[in-house]
Parts: sequence; structure tokens; C-alpha cells
Amino acid sequence: MVYDILVIGTGISGLTFAIKVSEQNPNAKIALISKGEFDEGNTRYAQGGIAVVKDFVKDSYTKHIDDTLEAGGYQNKKDVIEFVVKEAGQRIDELLQWGIQFDTKNGQLHLTKEAGHSAHRIIHHKDITGHEIQQALVKKIKKLPNVTCLRNHTLVDLITDHHLKSNYNCCYGAYVISKEQRQIITLSAKFTVLSTGGAGQLYRHTTNPPESTGDGLGAAYRAKIYMENLPFVQFHPTGLFPKVDGRTFLISEVLRGLGAKLLNHDGLQFMFQYHLEKEMAPRDVVARGIATEIQKGKLDYVHLDARNIPHNKWLKRLPNIYRQLIDIGINPEHQFIPVVPVAHYFCGGIAVNEYAESGLKRLYAIGECSSTGLHGANRLASNSLLESIVFSHRAAMHCIKSLKDQPPPSSIYEKIPSWKGKQYQEFNNPEITHSLCQQLQDTMTNYVGIFKSNQNLDIAEIAMNNIYKQVLKIYNRNKLDVELCELRNMVSIAHLIIQQAKQININQGVFYNIDNE
Ligand code: SIN
Repeated sequence: MVYDILVIGTGISGLTFAIKVSEQNPNAKIALISKGEFDEGNTRYAQGGIAVVKDFVKDSYTKHIDDTLEAGGYQNKKDVIEFVVKEAGQRIDELLQWGIQFDTKNGQLHLTKEAGHSAHRIIHHKDITGHEIQQALVKKIKKLPNVTCLRNHTLVDLITDHHLKSNYNCCYGAYVISKEQRQIITLSAKFTVLSTGGAGQLYRHTTNPPESTGDGLGAAYRAKIYMENLPFVQFHPTGLFPKVDGRTFLISEVLRGLGAKLLNHDGLQFMFQYHLEKEMAPRDVVARGIATEIQKGKLDYVHLDARNIPHNKWLKRLPNIYRQLIDIGINPEHQFIPVVPVAHYFCGGIAVNEYAESGLKRLYAIGECSSTGLHGANRLASNSLLESIVFSHRAAMHCIKSLKDQPPPSSIYEKIPSWKGKQYQEFNNPEITHSLCQQLQDTMTNYVGIFKSNQNLDIAEIAMNNIYKQVLKIYNRNKLDVELCELRNMVSIAHLIIQQAKQININQGVFYNIDNE
């Protein structure tokens, strides 16, 4: 069977795209795959909200455009920012019509402020905006009869001309691991959509869930699709330290928006030394400020003093963060919160045009795995969910039109071979893959983190080549499992980040090499 559309990934981008195409084109056969459960993934953990201009007295499109440019180190595409900012209102209205609840005040959407924004323009659902959106979209998608939802399916590779010995420069679907069928299956499709998120797991500390191993980016790399700006990895300034149950919990920027202050190991405020806006400076500046203080100080973290936030605000606006902190024995009304910068968001990715089309025909990329030009060298807070809804709409409209175009001949799909490599087997080499994964994360964290240097990039390159050789050996000799697939993707993306980083000779946005100073 050839699906009309295969959507890989079930965060806000993939779900929004699939809902729109399905509703407007009920005859389209759509397959939607998620790596784990349908409600898992990066979107679910988004705390902040969605940036949108609503208060046209104190705010304007121009202000939102300027803030996005400034945060992005002016490396963004201005025309892209313009249409994203202007289309935001319509897309939010759709989310509201779909039943997604955002907090209101006096009958209006409640607007909050985050670092880098010159006005209150973040709409949100308490401090669990992503969770609210994810739940509502999953509920909606499950009701659509023309969408086949397949959970526990991991992308292995895109199907391209390389597999068919043809030369249409097209994508024909993907090979995926089906955990239930315990094998690698072929999902053929006229159009394929990557909405696989970023690769925060390349680093030891990340706000991303374990699934964020850059599967779409790795597959795109092997399919020789153009990717850009991969070294623009954004570190969120305030991840809770240490990890809880092996994961880093995000302490939203909203706290600083409500007046929380950063203090060094001597209990002194320090952000005024780094930026006029202090705690409300763009994320890259705050992250570098904290990293510098940690290097100077005696502690592995700095303190976030949020004692100014009134009790009712914690309960109404930040209930999830409050509960998490109380659960681990920190009462933020009386105690400081220990925080460190942690890998958070990939600003670069698969280069796409204004309709999210990649360099490979019939392949779209949306959300964090794409590089649209909106973020430039650093993403402005709460512009990621915004990018997702605007680009998944544009991609969906473009795809609906393109479905009417002549597809590649059906004979071509008949020629798609079954997966030729080693077959799937669970728990292949857990100790070896786990240890290589840790080596990779240590290398990226120690040498390709917030502050880079030419020497460290050289060290990282050598280390990554060694890891790559070992991964290749295991890949060639063994049956595939999900962990090995993930490691194969992570090592490819790490290699690309290092290569691209070595080419950047000016510091911009999140990118900082001390030898460029
Ligand atoms: C946050 O709540 O601090 C994160 C929001 C974002 O990454 O845009």
C-alpha cells in the first residue's frame, strides 16, 4: 500500500499538519508514526507558551519582528519572520476552535513576558502549555478516520532514489522499526513529512525527553539533504540542578519574567555585568553569564531566587514547577532554586523554503528538525511553537495542492525493495551502545558546549571519529535495535555540528568560540 502522506513525529507540528490535511482532504490516506506513545515528545514539555501579538496598544508586529531579529543575532530571514508574526493570530484562533485552552484574564487571553521580548505577548496554559496542546491534538487526531496512527515506530531511513536506482530526486517514504511487528517495515508514501524534533540528547544535560536523538536529522544526513546552522544549539539558562530521576527539569523563563533573580555562589546578583536587561536579556547572553559564573565559582550551579513570586502566582501560574520543586524538597517561596544552562533547542536543521519543502522533492520538514530562517543564530523564547503552527499550516496547504499533481509512476513504488540491512532485534548490545552514547554526550558537553575553542573542536572531532568507527562496526555486524539507530543518528549529527562549527569565524547568537573573540 502506498500512503498519500507519511508523517513522522507526533509533536505539535506533525499533529497539526495531519489534522489539517485530513480535515480538508478526507480521502487522503495518511500514516502518522510516533516513536513511543502518541503523547510523548518535546511539545509536551514546553512550559512557556506561544508568542503572538495581541495587545496592539503596547505591542506591534514590528516589535515582535525586531525582538526576533535581535535574539537571532540578525542572522534570521526577515521575510520569514514577517509572515510568521503576522499569521500567528489566525493560527492561534484555530487552536482555540480546536478546544485548546489558554489562560485568560477579564475575558482576554492572558499575556505574559519572557526574556528578549519587549512586550507582554506570550499566551499560555498555566506552566504546562505544551501538555495542554499535545493532549488536545492527540484526542483530535484519533477521531480522524483517514489517519492511521502507528505508535512505537522508529524512523530508520528515508526511501530515496538511492534505494530505487532512479533519478527523480524524490522521497518515497521511509523504512521504520515496528516494535510490535519486531521488524523493519517499509512505509511507502507520495509525500513524507519529517517532524521529528531536535537532538538535545547529544548533551549530558537537556530539557528534551530521551526520544530527542535527531532521528530525522540523521536520516536527512544519510539522504544527502542540505542542512544548515546545526551548531546553533540553544542552551536554556535555567535547567534544575541536579537531574531528577535521570532527567533535567526545566525552570521556565517565566519565573524571570515575574522578577526572579540569578545569584552567584556568593549570593550576589551578576547579570547586570553581562547585559543591560539583566535577567531578561536574550537566552544566549544569560546562559553565557551563568556558565561564566559557574567557571569562576565554587559551585556547579547558580541560584535562582524566586522568593518574590507571591503564593497565589505559584498556584495559579506555575503550579507544575511549584509541585515539582516541593516534591524534591525545595520550597521556592523560601529557598533558592539551583540551576544550570542545559541543551534545549536546535535553531538549525533541514533547510526548507516558506512551505517547509526540503531540498528533496516530496519531503517536508516542520518544527525543530527544520531550519526555516525564523530563528537565525538564537531562538526567541516561545517562538518555537509559533513556528510549528505557522509552518505546519503552510506545509499542509501546499501538500493538499500538490496531491493533485502527477505523482511518480506507481511502478516506481512497486520497485521499492524491503529493508536490505540487518533486521531488527531488541536489546542488541545495550552496554556497548550505552557506553558509546555516554562518550558522545561527554565529548559534546565538554568540547562543543556553550563556549567552544578551536582546540576543543579539534579534540571533539578526533573523539567523534573514533566513536563513529565503533558505531559503524557494530552497525555492520549486528542486528538493528532502536538504541543503535539512535546512536547512528547522534554520531552523524555530532559530526556535522563539529564540522560546521569549525567553519564559523564570528560569534553570533548562541554560537561562541573563544578564538573568534
Ligand atoms: C521556557 O518556558 O522557559 C521555555 C520556553 C521556550 O523554550 O520557548
